[in-house]
Amino acid sequence: MGVKKVSKIKVAIDGPVSSGKSSAGSKTAAALNYQFIDTGIMYRALAYKIKIQNIPSTKWKQTAEAASFKWVGDLSKPSLILDGTNVSRNLFSPEISSFTSKVASVPEIRKILVSIQRKMAEDGGIVMVGRDIGTVVLPDAELKIFLTASLDARIKRRYEELNQSKTPIPIEKLKIEILERDKRDTTRSDSPLQIAENGIEIDSTHLTLDEVVEMIVKLAKDKESRD
Ligand code: DC
Repeated sequence: MGVKKVSKIKVAIDGPVSSGKSSAGSKTAAALNYQFIDTGIMYRALAYKIKIQNIPSTKWKQTAEAASFKWVGDLSKPSLILDGTNVSRNLFSPEISSFTSKVASVPEIRKILVSIQRKMAEDGGIVMVGRDIGTVVLPDAELKIFLTASLDARIKRRYEELNQSKTPIPIEKLKIEILERDKRDTTRSDSPLQIAENGIEIDSTHLTLDEVVEMIVKLAKDKESRD
């Protein structure tokens, strides 16, 4: 009989727009006492910088190469500091969301961010969420979750998210925004959103956030304690 060994693992969570992956990832990280990293925020922060500085697409690669990404604060709810500035507050408008998905479809940009994300995860004890975490960034992750939900459920969540941040948008407009981003994220040639090999799909349409977190934490604990 082997001795039970508990080790800090890597948890990858991927999924489409408003599938609940960020909320579930953060709560899972809190339960496991792991670092939480939302890679969507990294793409958003870079896109925001490019947009407000009006950087031409010929200089996007250079901007990404020179960028410094630092996560600070609470392990499970960290803030991203990009080039010394906390940009978190400005990243969720429909304009930035749509522009981010364009910036994120550029292979040179992805290559740079993927390499930074791998470094951030190298010691384990991490919950990383995005679109390509299980497939490209951390194909060696011990646990890979693919979180989905019906389109109606995702529209409702996005509506609630945005109204909370006081930017009310009509439902019809949200539906178009989600469908456009889904299309770009799943059909781009570099690292399209797809379920990873050994990925476990969780459909959260009829589950509460706590139920999703409970499922992921249980799977993670099983992987943490190996004979
Ligand atoms: O998860 P999110 O909606 O905050 O992501 C913002 C955009 O960034 C989204 O259009 C997809 C893209 N993204 C990506 O291409 N790869 C990731 N690992 C994370 C996000």
